[in-house]
Amino acid sequence: MLTASLRLNTRTPVAPVNPRLFGSFVEHMGRAVYTGIFEPGHETADAAGFRSDVADLVRELGVSIVRYPGGNFVSGFKWEDSVGPVDERPVRLDAAWHSIETNRVGIHEFAAWAASAGVEVMQAVNLGTRGVAEAAELLEYCNIPRGTALSDARRANGADEPFDIRVWCLGNEMDGPWQIGHKTADEYGRLAAETARLMRFVDPRIELVAAGSSNADMPTFGSWERTVLTHTAGLVDHISVHAYYEELDGDAESFLASAVGLDRYLEEVAQIIDEVRAEAGIERPIGISVDEWNVWYQTRFNEVDKEPLLTGEWNEAPRLIEDEYGVTDAVVVGSLLNSLLRHGDRVSMANLAQLVNVIAPIRSEPGGPAWRQTTFHPFERTARFARGEILAVDVSGAPVVETQKYGAVPVVDAAATRDGDEVVLFFVNRSTTDELALSVDIPDVAGLALVDAETLTVPEGLDRHASNTATEPARVGLVPLAGVEVSSGTEVSSTVSVTLPALSWSIIRLAATSAAAPSASSPSDASDATTSSLGDTRA
Ligand code: AHR
Repeated sequence: MLTASLRLNTRTPVAPVNPRLFGSFVEHMGRAVYTGIFEPGHETADAAGFRSDVADLVRELGVSIVRYPGGNFVSGFKWEDSVGPVDERPVRLDAAWHSIETNRVGIHEFAAWAASAGVEVMQAVNLGTRGVAEAAELLEYCNIPRGTALSDARRANGADEPFDIRVWCLGNEMDGPWQIGHKTADEYGRLAAETARLMRFVDPRIELVAAGSSNADMPTFGSWERTVLTHTAGLVDHISVHAYYEELDGDAESFLASAVGLDRYLEEVAQIIDEVRAEAGIERPIGISVDEWNVWYQTRFNEVDKEPLLTGEWNEAPRLIEDEYGVTDAVVVGSLLNSLLRHGDRVSMANLAQLVNVIAPIRSEPGGPAWRQTTFHPFERTARFARGEILAVDVSGAPVVETQKYGAVPVVDAAATRDGDEVVLFFVNRSTTDELALSVDIPDVAGLALVDAETLTVPEGLDRHASNTATEPARVGLVPLAGVEVSSGTEVSSTVSVTLPALSWSIIRLAATSAAAPSASSPSDASDATTSSLGDTRA
């Protein structure tokens, strides 16, 4: 058994928890929209054709803001195709994903779905094949109340009130040679700046996201951000980071250290932002919008699955990158959420890519069920319980795991939040073999007691690749984390002792004794809180 002592910094919070850290992404790609969120004729479909079983899971997941409609798709998208009478909308080739796009779901339908699912829309504009004018026209269509050709066209198409979309992405992954209309940093920076200027003239209330690098291994990473920000600082509010991780060649240690990679990536981008703003004397803050992040078995897609896509027939809603996630993937997703929290002073938005079917926490089958992937669970719990302020956790004394990709990394990955009398701890044990006994010092917060503790780990009799499927949707989920002890003997601090299972993501919720009554979701008995043995709240 490994052991480690950790300490929370309760005196200098990192930042308030921003609900926008828990965003997601719906692209017109594969079965994200068609037979994902939208499937007329499905037994749960509402009058507009949206699946209510999927919408229920979206609400349960706790997603705050959803990026739409791409992704690579947006770089060939003509927004005008997706409005007006559905029967008159053109059917188009989507060259980005070698698919047929029927445009049965468009701007109006998605806005209505988002409103009913309780999520904010984050709209991307096409800066691949289109430019300044079309972006400003889409904004006018969406946000101007009435009295102009475009705003009145929206009203004639059924939306009397503006959609009032506040967050706009200036294109997508324009640094990538795979992107339709790929550009150099200078070409994109100029275009993004001019688009931003005109869009702000149309609606000064909007927030704009400049496209950063597609990943930290891009040869242009760093110089891309510097150049793009030199053109756009003062005009944009965020710059994007896209970050996907996968287990390569069975190297689970490096994969489980992905959050260290994300930590470093975010810190490099933050430094570039600071340098560019200082050099240009720009006051306007620029946040980091991690508007695509997840586990994605991309190498497999590029080497195996992409070939038929490029040479085969053009189909509607083909099955694309429907990665089935195991326990290890969920643990990595949990640690990536921790990394986002740790950088909550710089990350202004984050979008788990994607939401349904396409590398998604929610899966659905046409005419069949919808279910939660393993990765659903850490996201749902973090989105729900990370509240108040983010606290730094010192893990510097913990044992390390040697990794090929990131060197020696702490065996434990941690984040914490505090909301008044409530403290929530999020831990990952990266060891695939050893339990980890933690002692966690929480200074300046006395009288804490356990509210609930849960873990996601390898279920008895299964292995770390165990996943949830249409027929076995609850093989992997949250189970009670037993043996948590909270000592609140002193008047100035509390200490939590817990043993984390090997390869696990865990959440421990604490509250000052008077506030330690169990939540509606928890079957726990607060009076027996110091040695938790709680029922599975997923059952
Ligand atoms: O999320 C899948 C794809 O990944 C997106 O379309 C693209 O932006 C990224 O490369």
